[in-house]
Amino acid sequence: MSDNHILVECYGLVQIIRLNRPEKKNAITRAMYQAMTDALKNGECEDAIHAHVILGSEGAFSAGNDMQDFMAFAMGGAMGTEVFDFLMCLSTLKKPIVSGVDGLAIGIGTTIHLHCDMTFATPLSTFKTPFVDLALVPEAGSSLLGPAMMGHQRAYAMFAAGEGFSADEAREAGLIWKVVDQAELEVSVMTCARSLAAKPPIALALAKQLLRPEIAAVQTRIEEEGELFKQQLLSDEAKQAFMAFMARKAS
Ligand code: COA
Repeated sequence: MSDNHILVECYGLVQIIRLNRPEKKNAITRAMYQAMTDALKNGECEDAIHAHVILGSEGAFSAGNDMQDFMAFAMGGAMGTEVFDFLMCLSTLKKPIVSGVDGLAIGIGTTIHLHCDMTFATPLSTFKTPFVDLALVPEAGSSLLGPAMMGHQRAYAMFAAGEGFSADEAREAGLIWKVVDQAELEVSVMTCARSLAAKPPIALALAKQLLRPEIAAVQTRIEEEGELFKQQLLSDEAKQAFMAFMARKAS
C-alpha cells in the first residue's frame, strides 16, 4: 500500500507483518486490515513461508480500530468487509502465528492475540478492550474464546468491564505466552517463529488443528458479534462516545 501503514517482509521461512502507523498509535484502518489479510492469505498459500509474525511499534502494538472509520460508519458510511475478512482469515490460519507487543494493545490490538499461537509482551504493555465504554460489544470471537481461556470473571473484567490487564496479568490469564524485556522482544518473537518454521509443517498444522477444534463455532461467533457490533455502531450512545474521543483534546 502506498502509505506503508502495513509493512510485510520475509526472513527465511518467516513472514513479518508490521503495523506501521505509530503517529496514530497503530490504529487500524480498513486499508490496513485489507493489507494484513492479503499478506496472511499469501503466506498461507506460499510454500516458502512456514510461519507468520505480527508486530507493532515501540510503545504501541495497536490502539485498535481507527475511530474515524467507526465514526464514518456511524454517520451512514459503508462498513466494508475488511474487518470481517481479516478476522475470518486470522481465525483459520493453518500456519503458526507469533505476535509481539510493546505498550498499548487496545480493542482489536488485544483480541488479535486470542488467535495467535504464541505472544510475547514487554513488562509495560497494557491489554484493554473498552468495547462497552464505546457502547460496542466484544468482537473477534473474544466472547467465546475469552471465557474459555481465562474463565468468566477475568473475561468479564477484560471484555465487558474494560479493565486494563498488565503484561503479567495477561500472561496469568493465558492471553499471552511470555513477558520479555523490551530490548529482547523482537529477538524472542523471531527466535520462536524461526523455531516453529523449522518444524515439520504438516505435523505442526495438524497439531494446531487438534488444539483449535472450535474454529467453526468461533467463526459463527465472529458473525454474531459482528451483527451486534454494527447495530451498536449506529446507536446514539456509540456516536456520543466517538464524538467524545474526537473532542477530547479541545476540552
Ligand atoms: N483511532 C484513530 N486515531 C487514534 C486512535 C484510534 N483508535 N487511537 C489513537 N489515535 C490517534 C489520536 O487521535 C492522536 O492523533 P492526533 O495526534 O492526530 O490527535 C494520536 O493517535 C495519538 O493519540 P493520543 O490520544 O494523543 O495519545 P495518548 O498517549 O494520549 O493516548 C490512547 C493513547 C490509545 C490511550 C488514546 O489515543 C485512546 O484512547 N485511543 C482510542 C483507543 C480506542 O478506544 N480504540 C478502539 C477500541 S474498540
